[in-house]
Parts: sequence; structure tokens; C-alpha cells
Amino acid sequence: MNLKNQIPSLLEELAGLSLSDSLAWLAGKFPGRVAFSTALGQEDQVITHAIFSEKIPIRIFSLDTGRLFQETYTLWSETERKYQSKIVPFFPEAPAVEAFVTENGINGFYNSVENRKACCHVRKVLPLTRALQEVDVWVTGLRSGQSANRSNFNLLEWDEAFQVIKFNPIINWSFDEMVSYLQEHDVPYNKLHDQGFISIGCAPCTRAILPGEEPRAGRWWWEQTQKECGLHANYFQK
Ligand code: ADX
Ligand code: SF4
Repeated sequence: MNLKNQIPSLLEELAGLSLSDSLAWLAGKFPGRVAFSTALGQEDQVITHAIFSEKIPIRIFSLDTGRLFQETYTLWSETERKYQSKIVPFFPEAPAVEAFVTENGINGFYNSVENRKACCHVRKVLPLTRALQEVDVWVTGLRSGQSANRSNFNLLEWDEAFQVIKFNPIINWSFDEMVSYLQEHDVPYNKLHDQGFISIGCAPCTRAILPGEEPRAGRWWWEQTQKECGLHANYFQK
């Protein structure tokens, strides 16, 4: 049966399983073909803890755009040290970044939405395409409470763009449940969260949010867009 058609039966098998049990079950069902992408956010750290502490055979990778915060790299390193495990880096192709910067400038993503999406494409979407080769199940840290357009994301989705099953294991967790899990298990987190940052991406494109602002207001704060970069393109109108 093709991957997409397996989703209904997989959903039945996963019903009622805990985070760790669902990850372990999928890893057993698709040996060597499950991968988790981490941006080192709070949601991601929950899943990383479950995978690394239980030694679940799921590869963890991160897309290093070259423009991440120093605090994010510190957390990456701290996480590897704590769990004695590796987060595999995927970098953008040098010629593609060089061409983008030559044409648009080193901070050319501020000039237009089109430029910004082109930068995200080169630095994130294309490397993700490489990272998802040989993968059947892509695990993400998406949470429906993150924004209005993420509120109808499901536990399992077919990702047409990358031709994989997408598994969003904490999609229905509340912000408070996530924070409690991190505290209870003493999971390392990005120190920028203590300074009003909620959703953290690249440094030049992320700011802290103000009281009352929605969680993703600090991403591409100068734009009036749906605040997405193309990784999760299935779910929003371009
Ligand atoms: S983004 O599309 O706006 O950048 P966000 O930061 O909310 O996404 O993260 C949502 C999920 O997308 C993360 O839990 C992670 O699975 C994936 N993701 C986002 N950015 C990266 C990255 N740089 N490296 C790996 N995974 C990422
Ligand atoms: Fe480029 Fe900003 Fe997108 Fe990072 S978030 S890839 S710096 S446009």
C-alpha cells in the first residue's frame, strides 16, 4: 500500500499512545525511515528529550540556515552533551546562498516578501528536501496553538510537497503542558525564551513578542503575511 493510504490505519494504531510510545511504534513500523526535524524550539525539545532519553531509533536533524541565534547554537551543543547524541546538521548549498546574497544583499530578505521567501527557500526548504530523502515519516514539533493557520493541523498528514507522512506528535498539547513537561524532565531550553521570545527562527527575522501579541508575531515581524517559510506549505494559502 502506498504511504498516503496508510494514514487511516496508522491513526488507529496511534490512538491513545503516549508521546514516547507513538514515536517508538512508528520507528518500529518504518525502520530507519523516520526522521525528526528540530529547530531547537520548546516543542522540539520535548520531542528530542523523548527520542534521546528513550534511545528511540529516529534520526534527529536541524536545518542550519547560517543565520541562527548564538543562543540556539549554544542549546544545540548543550543538548548533544546532555544526551550524548548527535543532531545532524543540514546546510544550504553554498552556490545558492552566494547567488541570493550577490543579487539581493546580505540582508536582502528585508526588501520584499518575495525576497524573504526566496531566502527561506534557499536556506531552509531546499536543505529540507535533501534531509527528507529516504524518509517515510517526517516528525515535527508543530502545535496547533502556535497560530490560527496551524489550528487545523492534524496528528498525521500527507505532505504533498515532500511526499512523506508528516507526524506532529504534540499537535494537541497546550503551551502549559509543554512547559510543564520541559520542567518536569529538566530539559535544556533556549535562553531567549526568558527574554520574551516564543517562536524562534533566524536571528535577523525574529524578535521578542509584546504582552498580548500572538505567539508567532515576532517572526518576520515587519511583514503582514501568514508568517510561514515554506516548510509547512501544505497548510496555508500562499
Ligand atoms: S517555521 O516554518 O516557522 O520556521 P517553526 O519555527 O514554527 O517553523 O517550527 C515548526 C517546526 O518546523 C519545528 O518543530 C520543526 O519540526 C520544523 N522546523 C522549523 N525550522 C526548522 C529548522 N531550522 N530545522 C529543522 N526543523 C525546523
Ligand atoms: Fe532567510 Fe530570514 Fe528565512 Fe532565515 S528566516 S532563511 S534569514 S528569510
